[in-house]
Amino acid sequence: MHANLSLWDCVVNSKGHLEMDGCDLVSVAREHGTPIHVVSKRSLSANCDEAQRSLSRSLREVEVFYSYKTNCVPGVLEIIHGHGIGAEVISPYELWVALKLGVPGEKIIYNGPHKTKDSLTTAIRNDAKLINLDSLTDIRNAADVCRAHGLTANVGVRLCPSYGWSAQFGLSMRNEEANSGLRLIKENGECLRLKGFHVHLGSQITDMSLFRKALAEVLAFVQETPEGTRKDLQYLDVGGGFGVPMVREIGGIERRLSAIGRRPFRAPDPDQCPGFDEFGTAIAETLEQYTDLFKGGGPTVIVEPGRAITSNTQVLLLGVRVVKQRKIPIAILDGGKMNITFPTSFEYHQILAASRMRESADNSYKLVGRTCTPSDLLYENARLPTVEEGDIIAVMDAGAYFTSFSNDFAFPRPPIILLDNGATSVLRRRETFEDVAARDSLV
Ligand SMILES: Cc1ncc(COP(=O)(O)O)c(C=O)c1O
Repeated sequence: MHANLSLWDCVVNSKGHLEMDGCDLVSVAREHGTPIHVVSKRSLSANCDEAQRSLSRSLREVEVFYSYKTNCVPGVLEIIHGHGIGAEVISPYELWVALKLGVPGEKIIYNGPHKTKDSLTTAIRNDAKLINLDSLTDIRNAADVCRAHGLTANVGVRLCPSYGWSAQFGLSMRNEEANSGLRLIKENGECLRLKGFHVHLGSQITDMSLFRKALAEVLAFVQETPEGTRKDLQYLDVGGGFGVPMVREIGGIERRLSAIGRRPFRAPDPDQCPGFDEFGTAIAETLEQYTDLFKGGGPTVIVEPGRAITSNTQVLLLGVRVVKQRKIPIAILDGGKMNITFPTSFEYHQILAASRMRESADNSYKLVGRTCTPSDLLYENARLPTVEEGDIIAVMDAGAYFTSFSNDFAFPRPPIILLDNGATSVLRRRETFEDVAARDSLV
């Protein structure tokens, strides 16, 4: 019994192979080689439309910005922008990519715990919609840049609520930091326009109460700010973090118990994962009593999903290279957590034998990579049919944080292939040995 393949917009074709967007994934893997990432254009487009449609049902004004750090692949980003979604960037490089892709400033949100003065200048010159300042240093730097170049900037303040990610992000509401930040912005009022507040709680959030509590805390803080501070207030940026149905965090204890008990990880229950509709409703309901804090009878809500847009649209295909017969057989794959499957070290991801989809998954395998380190493990106990050298393994939900965390530890990185209604095209070619060594010199 396989998980519901429609969660990834996949089917099993007449050859018993996994198929996505009209493409036989085993044929794609054999043609282009493994390891290889494939992205479904249909699925990506559907997610982009669904996010905007669903959120608009409950929110008066809402704009969606894709979190570049989730999967910063220009060919993927171009499709996302083609659906009217903007760019949420957190580094000078990501800002550069967005501008290279022709994303206009009004479609760019600039976040991140440290923004260089050069990148602030670029963002401000390009009229970024909102630059969310993360520290007093960030505020001073933005003001310095504006004064040096005679510019004005639309800024937000990232607040650090008591729920979600740690205190390293944003300005604290618990001590005087956030209030000091607001005073500093006011003192620089000739060049910094406070347009919004920002909060981001973390990733793979499925607990709506956490989301509601954090938003309420932020809005209560905003309500206490002096009225003058709020005169230009237009945006409430609620960040990203929206969970996806077939991923869940796996803690260290669960990992150890699974290894000792030789039990596969429990698959998440997809019905427990809220969709964009539920997030929209939670935001709208929490906002209800605070709309008058914003100009024009309520804020434009900014959302910054990453995972929820791309996770299920991308599959990582790995080849079985060696099988060793042990108590639990070991399948050595051409990718593991040390180089290209890092998220499998802390998340559940469905593993499928793409080349044997009609066979029942009755066997346990230890799945490992080939970087010659004992910790290059995918899963201690993966349930699969009997697999042999040459079989193709699919790691599902590889569209979030896989390419971002990949590296060239001993092997060049995989290509990324777009699937589009039975046709394929290369979005990123396979890295070559020369690419890996390109920046090196001998003395
Ligand atoms: C500020 C910010 N916005 C959005 C995101 C996207 O998060 P997710 O992929 O969980 O939606 C992140 C990633 O953690 C982030 O740091």
